Amino acid sequence: MDLRIKSFEQYEHDYAKSIHQPDEFWAHIADSFQWKKRWDSVVEWNFDEPKIEWFKGGKLNITENLLDRHLASKGDQVAFHWEPNHPSETSKSITYGELYTEVCKLSNGLKSLGVQKGDRVCIYMPMVIESVVAILACARIGAVHSIIFAGFSSNALADRINDAQAKVVITSDGLNRGDKSVDLKFMVDEALESCTSIEKVIVLDCIHSQSKMKDGRDIDYNSLINEQSSDCPAEEMDAEDMLFILYTSGSTGKPKGVVHTCGGYMVYTAYSFQNVFQYEQGDVFWCTADIGWITGHSYIVYGPLLSGATSIIFEGIPTYPDAGRFWQTIDKYKVNQFYTAPTAIRSLMSFDHKFVTDQDLSSLKLIGSVGEPINEEAWNWYYENIGKSNCPIIDTWWQTETGGVMLSGLGGLSPMKATYAGLPLPGICPVLLDAEGKEIHEADTEGYLCVKFPWPSILRTTYGDHERCKFTYFSNYKGYYFTGDGARRDEDGLYRIIGRVDDVINVSGHRFGTAEIEDAINKDQYAIESAVVGYPHPIKGQGIYAYVVVNAEHTSDLDITNSIANSVSQHIGRIAKPDKIQVVKGLPKTRSGKIMRRILRKIAEGELSNFGDTSTLLDPTLIDEIIKGVK
Ligand code: WTA
Repeated sequence: MDLRIKSFEQYEHDYAKSIHQPDEFWAHIADSFQWKKRWDSVVEWNFDEPKIEWFKGGKLNITENLLDRHLASKGDQVAFHWEPNHPSETSKSITYGELYTEVCKLSNGLKSLGVQKGDRVCIYMPMVIESVVAILACARIGAVHSIIFAGFSSNALADRINDAQAKVVITSDGLNRGDKSVDLKFMVDEALESCTSIEKVIVLDCIHSQSKMKDGRDIDYNSLINEQSSDCPAEEMDAEDMLFILYTSGSTGKPKGVVHTCGGYMVYTAYSFQNVFQYEQGDVFWCTADIGWITGHSYIVYGPLLSGATSIIFEGIPTYPDAGRFWQTIDKYKVNQFYTAPTAIRSLMSFDHKFVTDQDLSSLKLIGSVGEPINEEAWNWYYENIGKSNCPIIDTWWQTETGGVMLSGLGGLSPMKATYAGLPLPGICPVLLDAEGKEIHEADTEGYLCVKFPWPSILRTTYGDHERCKFTYFSNYKGYYFTGDGARRDEDGLYRIIGRVDDVINVSGHRFGTAEIEDAINKDQYAIESAVVGYPHPIKGQGIYAYVVVNAEHTSDLDITNSIANSVSQHIGRIAKPDKIQVVKGLPKTRSGKIMRRILRKIAEGELSNFGDTSTLLDPTLIDEIIKGVK
């Protein structure tokens, strides 16, 4: 099923149709999938409750669409090339036929443990093929997967397991990333001390660490699947049944479980994959994201497999064993579409140019970027050195909540402009709102980015707390989905993302709520109170700056900051460790007790004067103290 738009004229035509006749437009696309029963209505929705239903009454199983459907024509085609952490280890490839067998075996294995439709299964795994198998095995039997990025700590894992009341964890004995290894099983054991819902833990042997297995609870992955049949009927799912939960950070301390459902997510990830990347049959696609983030879900697993693509799963990191790893891998597999994050580009730009020029990158047809705004310097370097001024760059803007790419060029068919994500995909109705919630129509004006009509892969709820979904996304501006981002639009209608307008920091493309980090800091023995803000960071995009009030008279600042950094690692994960921790006497607050973050942000950005109106501050002298501390 080729869902590709093939010219800019067709884009304009399809876009208009998607807006004026959304039912016909999406029905036509959805008809190219395999349904056990066709839907009764294409879309029913209101953004007030919110209640959004796509392909209502339709019955399907997404794995039949990404495996069974391809078997006759693509059984022997490679679905994934797996590239290990170190190039001297043996790489592996798996065909669609083999993937089908592996998925069926694990599906039967899960069933033998009592996992049923609707049960939640937590996946805490490295970047290996079995992670995809685990995801698809859940989908095949109708279990809801909740993938937790393997960089999260045991506390973060426990919070997410408890929120979802998961029944089973699928994990590995450990993982290798660069020259480090992580004992994932140990993290799981630690997490499960505070979880009561987990009945079984399935452990894949990845690094031969011979981790201790708990009797009656832990099962070796291979022993579980060995005896299982290689056929497993796919569970019939309603289009609106839950497919997965993925936790993401927001402005409060507790991450929320974004819920995606089977039918709409299937249709939109396949449609956006083929169009944004202009994927043609036979191409080799590589998305470098981790499976634990939405980018991995949509553009390593679901979009490519639904489209019968061949793609790459990379276990390692861009700078191991040297900074040429991405470029060697592109050369090795003759990658046609390469999709990575600005933070990786900015870090690789600083290394010897020979790492790039030593490799043949001529297979590339398109290069892409995701996760955070890409600055002009990185955009130009990427375009000239990796794309050889010959490949379109697609800057794709989207979110965990949107399920798939919303704004971007279409693989070179639509206009491309450095630092602009570009035009909306068909079916997407972005608007910019001013502070009063009125739509801005003029060009080159900044506003709050919202969307005024649903698309098939919009989130449906936040797990176990629908009010939170309503409050976070649908109540700031009535009748609109609010993205939390600010943007501007040029005279050609291209969007440029400015960044978050809420209390979310985007560190190397990973989202953290300031409140979430503050909670972790405040759990430290020395911390009394803290305020966290983002500041521009040359590689990570944004860095984390923490101001902390402490209770530790006879302790050195170094001991205090180490202890605080450890607390964040323990409660969230190493990825959320503050880049700068400043011990302060007090936080600048208004008379009503609100922290003046605006001022703290300015100081973190290095601006030490011009704070605007500070007359509402309870104690203005604190500002001078803080500035002294910076110097
Ligand atoms: C930011 C990642 C600028 C944005 C797919 C958004 C971007 C948040 C871009 C979602 C981009 C993502 N340009 N900013 N191309 N892509 N963002 O949920 O602030 O991990 O709201 O989804 O990342 O992050 P998430």
